[in-house]
Amino acid sequence: MEKIKITGGNRLLGEIDVQGAKNSVLPILAATLLCADECVIHNCPDLSDVKTAIKILRNLGCSCEKTGKTLVVDSRNVDNCEIPDELMREMRSSVVFLGAIIARCGKARISSPGGCELGPRPIDLHLSSLSKMGIKISEEYGTLLCECCPEIVGTTINLCFPSVGATENIILAAATAKGITIINNAAKEPEISDLADFLNSAGARIYGAGSDTVVIHGVYKLHSTEHTIIPDRIVAATYMAAAVMTGGEVRLNNVMPSNMVSIFWAFNECGCQIEPSGKSILIKSNGRLKRIPTVRSLVYPGFPTDAGPILISMLSIAKGTSVFVENIFENRYKYIDELKRFGAKIKCEGKVAVIEGVEKLYSAKVCCTDLRGGAALALSGLAAEGETILSEIGHIERGYDDIVGVLGRIGAQIEYI
Ligand code: EPZ
Repeated sequence: MEKIKITGGNRLLGEIDVQGAKNSVLPILAATLLCADECVIHNCPDLSDVKTAIKILRNLGCSCEKTGKTLVVDSRNVDNCEIPDELMREMRSSVVFLGAIIARCGKARISSPGGCELGPRPIDLHLSSLSKMGIKISEEYGTLLCECCPEIVGTTINLCFPSVGATENIILAAATAKGITIINNAAKEPEISDLADFLNSAGARIYGAGSDTVVIHGVYKLHSTEHTIIPDRIVAATYMAAAVMTGGEVRLNNVMPSNMVSIFWAFNECGCQIEPSGKSILIKSNGRLKRIPTVRSLVYPGFPTDAGPILISMLSIAKGTSVFVENIFENRYKYIDELKRFGAKIKCEGKVAVIEGVEKLYSAKVCCTDLRGGAALALSGLAAEGETILSEIGHIERGYDDIVGVLGRIGAQIEYI
């Protein structure tokens, strides 16, 4: 398996075009099933998760052609309603296809998505919501069988937790359902709004996406459309951290500052200087990063859980001691033991991580444990003197398009080995 070698200590200087959002393109690829026509998706990142989603679409009967960052999906000939076990295992977020497959085929068969590196990943909110819409769900030997009896009917759904995936599945099932669906306590992440924008451009009638109440008027059918994926705010945060952890200065193009308010807050608290101008920002640190007394991950627009590992890596070299509280996932600190190999001083107790900033990090051989934890390790490698070797880099490639090329072009000494 390939590894990444980073020779740290270089100041990063230059410009980066931020990729399209992984967590936006995945539900939108599921949504193409509802159009039963040809859809063109621009700013589609090259990620292993996107490759898996394309395999799922092809397995259902769609044709998919990717040219550069443009993906054309033709879902006219869907002739299957099953996601094979190996594809479910490849990407647990495949569950977001469930609502769309049922809406298109009237039934669906998927294996229960396993847990993942972040702890158990239940889908009880997805299933309880879909069953309220007239979908019969049974489970046998780890396989979920879903069937419309006889059709999907709109209803009011009160989510006990604003689950991103559950909100997306409900929207996908409701877009062409009979009647009106109201989601109370819906997730408000920007990726939800991007999904609604895609569906509305294909003829759906979805109102209130991005707020905690989403209303979907079911329509008879959707049609082809063309859509550009929004920028990935977590990838943007990652490259911002790379700049300030190396004392560099980097311009990020193709970002949406309005989606990154809580991320900008954290960087400003650390003493970074961010100059937004339109769809780009210039970021640099003014000397050693400062501690942040306490940061809590929250649902949007709070500080995003996915940027937690990125921030913790930054705080590991800040002046002073910081506290991070992870409120979204049960077990999102697996990468911390690997971070400590760089000399980071971090103590974890349940949801809380206490980060005592150190003057410098030392290069290490580390193993990626999950997507954002892997990115955090790469960041520490950029800041540490000497040669860092990252293994299990498949985790990183799930969500970062050409991370070696991007960082290399702004001065990082980084290569595959
Ligand atoms: C999405 O995951 C993202 N993934 C995650 O990004 C992100 O961390 C998360 O939203 C929160 O923002 C994709 O969009 C593909 P949730 P999702 O449903 O939908 C619990 C990354 O790094 N829960 O909002 O799975 C769940 O266990 C990934 O790109 C239930 O209990 O997030 C978790 O503790 C990681 N029952 C919490 O809610 C359910 O039915 C948040 O989950 C669903 C969720």
